[in-house]
Amino acid sequence: MNIIETDKAYVAGTYRRFPVALVMGSGARAWDDAGREYTDLGSGIAVNIFGYGDEEWKRAVTAQLDALPHSSNLYHTEPCARLAQLLCERTGLKKVFFANSGAEANECAVKVARKYAYDKYGGESHSTVITLKNSFHGRTVTMLSATGQDHFHKYFGPFTPGFVYAEANDLADVRRLSEENGCCAVMVEMIQGEGGVMPLTYGFVKGIQQLCAEKDMLFIVDEVQTGNGRTGRLYSYMNFERTPDVVTTAKGLGGGLPIGACLIGEKAEHTLSYGDHGSTFGGNPAACAGAISILERIDDALLEGVREKSAFIINKLNGARGLKSISGMGLMLGLETERSAADIANACLSRGVLVLTAKTKIRLLPPLTITFEELDAAIDILKEEIEAV
Ligand SMILES: Cc1ncc(COP(=O)(O)O)c(C=O)c1O
Repeated sequence: MNIIETDKAYVAGTYRRFPVALVMGSGARAWDDAGREYTDLGSGIAVNIFGYGDEEWKRAVTAQLDALPHSSNLYHTEPCARLAQLLCERTGLKKVFFANSGAEANECAVKVARKYAYDKYGGESHSTVITLKNSFHGRTVTMLSATGQDHFHKYFGPFTPGFVYAEANDLADVRRLSEENGCCAVMVEMIQGEGGVMPLTYGFVKGIQQLCAEKDMLFIVDEVQTGNGRTGRLYSYMNFERTPDVVTTAKGLGGGLPIGACLIGEKAEHTLSYGDHGSTFGGNPAACAGAISILERIDDALLEGVREKSAFIINKLNGARGLKSISGMGLMLGLETERSAADIANACLSRGVLVLTAKTKIRLLPPLTITFEELDAAIDILKEEIEAV
């Protein structure tokens, strides 16, 4: 059996994969088992932010693999401590809990919010978390509850109680829910990624921040997809005035190895104590060493490049026949098209360009280091396929 046949025979069928087996990657390029080359405008769904096989990241990870690949959380290790320090210094948040995925980082955020309210108000009177309709926060049973989309609330019940869903960009709805329920937090993505690259408005985010302060709820921002330079700022909340109380991230922080992080601000900095939470692989030295090499290189020049590349893509696509709208920020863009997104993605694949979809849109999440030449050629192909209505 070849790779695809073996995968189909033995891997649980939870993914609708493209009919391609990737075997190698370098920068924004990947190759399949037949030697065909692709330009990847999806970067492993926002993970490979420095592209495939980034040399500095590989050096950092392999040096750590040689020194100490893993130790339990019973001992201190330098990469874990140093990465937490870097994250706190770059955000102004105070403490970090490390996990292995976005869903787990969000689980931690919910635990922080509930324990914060438990300590302050006693019992579970303030245990409800407000999230937004059309959000996506992960696949654990609790994060399915947190996700504000009905079709995720099937088959696996009973789901974790204590989540209510507000309309995005409707502050009155958030206020109403906060008054009808005993709430400990509001959790949002600044741009709903899986929901179709739908940004929140500036006024709405500011309003939530004020409401959270007024009602003593934690403001949690899920930066799993938007984080780590993706939107042209280190974290997308940095486009707004106030720092959230809790920030979660994953994906791009690891640069290709699993990691999740829940960053906790001053308000709840002492909420978690011994035994409240844990993870065998959380803070794994090899994953953290790689993440340090990623974070240290997300500097002003790189972020400016992200914004320039974003403008370059938008300029190239603007006015394309069959393109109805472009949403998003930085190198996280959603394209609403007349031709179906799935058809465009398949056509691009057959022409050597990998793109993602989100709901009915084409979603672009290229590596932040993709070159203008690579973008130029790949976007030409994408544009032709959008126009082939
Ligand atoms: C905003 C957001 N939160 C959480 C998750 C879940 O992350 P993971 O798949 O690493 O658990 C995702 C994944 O796409 C996401 O986009």
